[in-house]
Amino acid sequence: MAATFTLNVNGQNHTVTVNNPAMPLLWVIRDLIGLTGTKYGCGQNRCGACYVLVDNVPTNTCLEAAESFVGKNIVTIEGLSPNSSHPAQLAWIANQVPQCGYCQSGQLISTAGAMLAGYHGAAIAPQIQNVCICGTYPRILQAVETL
Ligand code: FES
Ligand code: FES
Repeated sequence: MAATFTLNVNGQNHTVTVNNPAMPLLWVIRDLIGLTGTKYGCGQNRCGACYVLVDNVPTNTCLEAAESFVGKNIVTIEGLSPNSSHPAQLAWIANQVPQCGYCQSGQLISTAGAMLAGYHGAAIAPQIQNVCICGTYPRILQAVETL
């Protein structure tokens, strides 16, 4: 049975209709709203590729039904800053962190969430549990040490 509801993503309301009410938030963000920066990795809340900020907390989007996010403030990588000027994005660029880049929106969302929670510098690193198949961990550490 189809369901229609409104999500607030990056400060804008989006009313969507899903054919399957169990459709996870990730696919609503990517396929219905068209924001493709958030990635699918494991589908099991293990890798962090699909993370967005939900009320400022890094949250996986690959499992829970999108409708359960009604009333929350959702921020995707596209909403982190209008022009890649979030301090974490600048640190990523300065330290040339990404390799293939696939995991990096999740890495940045986790970093932004840690900063919102009051962490600074190297203390951010333990807050990031995201997997990077390319092994960019040393450069992530290098980047977060500047924040
Ligand atoms: S795809 Fe959601 S945590 Fe891996
Ligand atoms: S940069 Fe390739 S998976 Fe992390």
